Amino acid sequence: MAIRVNGTEVASPDDARVSLLDHLREGLHLTGTKVGCNQGACGACTVLLDGQRVLSCLTLAVQADGREVTTIEGLAEGDGLHPLQGAFIEHDGFQCGYCTPGQICAASAMLRELAEGVPSYVTADLAQERILLSREEIRERMSGNLCRCGAHNGIVDAIFQVATEKAA
Ligand code: FES
Ligand code: FES
Repeated sequence: MAIRVNGTEVASPDDARVSLLDHLREGLHLTGTKVGCNQGACGACTVLLDGQRVLSCLTLAVQADGREVTTIEGLAEGDGLHPLQGAFIEHDGFQCGYCTPGQICAASAMLRELAEGVPSYVTADLAQERILLSREEIRERMSGNLCRCGAHNGIVDAIFQVATEKAA
């Protein structure tokens, strides 16, 4: 069995107990994906699995068999930055940067969820055709990604800017 990681087919680990996080970091040396709590509480390990955000510490590598994994290393097209990467720089959306790969992967999936009309806990009107973008929506939808440095305001501003540009 094989996994596609950032467009390249790689072998699954022989040991079915290996997490996707460990396989990415230890097996494939893609260390952009970070280990935080290693138990599903911080979001540092967030990657995309078939375009949806998952916590790679709680996902077995074998669960990604035959599927597409995107990590922070593969998010941008070509040599340029992904719009979220540029916006995080512009808005000081990080300090130590440890949470940043997970934040950006989560944000890219979250913007798609928003565009697809998936409601959140704070969506006031579930019947509305288009969910109104607000910082409250972004905070709620990004609440699974913790930043120990307190860069949350910059993170929200960066995501808000990219979401606004997408909607324009
Ligand atoms: S390392 Fe996976 S959620 Fe914290
Ligand atoms: S920038 Fe340091 S944990 Fe978020």
